[in-house]
Amino acid sequence: MQKEEAKARIEQLSTELEQHNYNYYVLSHPVVSDYDFDMLLEELIKLEKEFPEFLNPNSPSQRIGGQITKQFATVKHRYPMLSLSNSYSKEEMTEFDARARKGLGIDAASLFGDELEYVCELKFDGLSISLIYENGELKQAVTRGDGVQGDDVTTNVKTIKSIPLKLKGDFPPLFEIRGEIFLPHKAFEEINAEREEIGEPPLANPRNAASGTMKMQDSSVVAKRKLDCFMYYVLGENLRFETHFDNLEKAKKWGFKISEKSRLCKGIDEVFAFIEHWDKERYKLPYDIDGIVIKLNSYAYQEQLGMTAKSPRWAIAYKYKAAQVSTVLETISYQVGRTGSITPVANLKPVLLAGTTVKRASLHNADIIAKLDVRLNDTVFVEKGGEIIPKIVGVDFSKRSPDALPFEYRTDCPECKSILVRTAGEANHYCPNENGCPPQIKGKMEHYVSRKAMNIESLGSETIEQLHKEGLIKNIADIYELKKEDLLPLDRMAEKSVNNLLEGIEESKKVPFERVLYAIGIRHVGETTAKKIARKVKSIELLMNSSLEQLLEIDEVGEIIAKSIQAFFANETNKSIVLHLQQKGVQFSLSEDQLQQGTEKLKGLSFVISGVFQKHSRDELKNMIEQNGGKNTGSISSKTSYILAGENMGPEKLKKAESLGVKLISEDDFLNMIA
Ligand code: IVH
Repeated sequence: MQKEEAKARIEQLSTELEQHNYNYYVLSHPVVSDYDFDMLLEELIKLEKEFPEFLNPNSPSQRIGGQITKQFATVKHRYPMLSLSNSYSKEEMTEFDARARKGLGIDAASLFGDELEYVCELKFDGLSISLIYENGELKQAVTRGDGVQGDDVTTNVKTIKSIPLKLKGDFPPLFEIRGEIFLPHKAFEEINAEREEIGEPPLANPRNAASGTMKMQDSSVVAKRKLDCFMYYVLGENLRFETHFDNLEKAKKWGFKISEKSRLCKGIDEVFAFIEHWDKERYKLPYDIDGIVIKLNSYAYQEQLGMTAKSPRWAIAYKYKAAQVSTVLETISYQVGRTGSITPVANLKPVLLAGTTVKRASLHNADIIAKLDVRLNDTVFVEKGGEIIPKIVGVDFSKRSPDALPFEYRTDCPECKSILVRTAGEANHYCPNENGCPPQIKGKMEHYVSRKAMNIESLGSETIEQLHKEGLIKNIADIYELKKEDLLPLDRMAEKSVNNLLEGIEESKKVPFERVLYAIGIRHVGETTAKKIARKVKSIELLMNSSLEQLLEIDEVGEIIAKSIQAFFANETNKSIVLHLQQKGVQFSLSEDQLQQGTEKLKGLSFVISGVFQKHSRDELKNMIEQNGGKNTGSISSKTSYILAGENMGPEKLKKAESLGVKLISEDDFLNMIA
């Protein structure tokens, strides 16, 4: 393809993909299939690799993430990020309205008839973000921080699909827009299900999960977390409209996700109706809100009232009380996860809470039980947040029976009676009988065949159950011993399904080492960690023989993961299963191709890539750095060894590099280093 043609196609694909993103994530109305979307994206990525000079930092390909930010740069806000004063009662809201009227004078209020005009909005429960757009392109995303300065999280924010990277229509050349990044309930449940899979304790609530995610260093992990964002405040010198509501409507046309639930209300009584409506309806929303926000609609009025040091006088938040009931804790039962992780669950006297009957509540781990000092037959307070299962937030000590004894956490496994273990520094107890405890055996197999692991679709959960019951598979390696003649006599096993099953198993022998490493189910070793380990250590033999120090050198591997890896291989059964899998042809080392690419030439060096390059795309360069033992970081610090500088490197970066004395190298210098 000629350069000009490529340039045009890249532009066309970018516009088209950004529109599809908008249709899907802002309008919730996709017009192409996921497959077609992926095909277009793949074409774009390929072209950008071939013609890196046309890679735009706001290309839809950047939404996949990949860039690592070791340290988030601190940025001063152009306008301080104030918070809102809170109110908890109608009286306080009436007082707010009266104060606003007084501040504006009766005449001003009568401009709108008798009442002031407010915009009522949902108060989303996440973390606030400030976005700067220059000439219609997202330039910078900064967290609230202390209100005066926050963290530059632009790389992570670009992975949030509902945040436009390029705007449409007649936007101002420079403006700021603020909003709330949040994690929808469904995405939150998915993260916790995955955490449970690898033996990690669950995240407490969607808000913490969202802010934790924003601080992650690896943007490709952020990209997988399905964060979302509503915008609620436009700031700039020359905004087009006189009112907050009209500006938000306008921002919607530029491509932002603006809540459809906001309403214009005349007078405080209409505000009350909005508050009451959402007090009842809030549990049906697919995300958490913790109140509503009311804002004076007119900018002229907003200006007239001004701000205090902490918050604007023209807006106030009304906070809902968390839905809470009290009920009796009847028993505590325990669930055993795939990695042996034990989760205590409270069984409650059924009670109605926010429209549903609650019978169970999560207790998470022994520490939480001890902290709450919850005892059997206590009356407990149960609260509903974003989680499907509500949680116990306290005990009504006034109702405690005088002979109630402190709760004693179970010491043996509820399934196989092995003595439970708790490693220092870990929240959960676990059952160490990993190859003999039934839910662990089954769970391990289900994990092994799952899509992100060995992807043996033909071996579903019911078939695993059946084969396990028949004694045909006792561990994951036995899967490779299955024979047609053993399977055919079984229920629901026709010739075709048996062939399918065996084909799927055979196919899995091609799955690369990094996924096999994830599939064998080492506690705490998730998909990303497995990838990092496989690329660094290169084979299972080397991994088995790695010292703690060597393991700790791997990116993302801390003490807990390192010790878990060592414990896994210290277990003879695990070792023999791995050996068995290896004999059957499962991949336990990097392929020749992968091996040939790697060297240690850049060991100990860390790079920041900036600008646009002639010969390779930024992603290719990043891969080359990693494959040669170097590290990629997102921001420049005194620890940066080199800045790999292309064309159009940002002036801020240049300044910082100079002030820290970090050396700049060109693409050719770099290629010579690894030649
Ligand atoms: S307006 C100066 N609108 O609540 C006004 N904030 O307690 C700035 N929030 O820091 C905020 N939903 O993180 C506004 N519709 C909404 C909101 C909202 C959630 C959060 C935001 C802010 C906090 C204030």
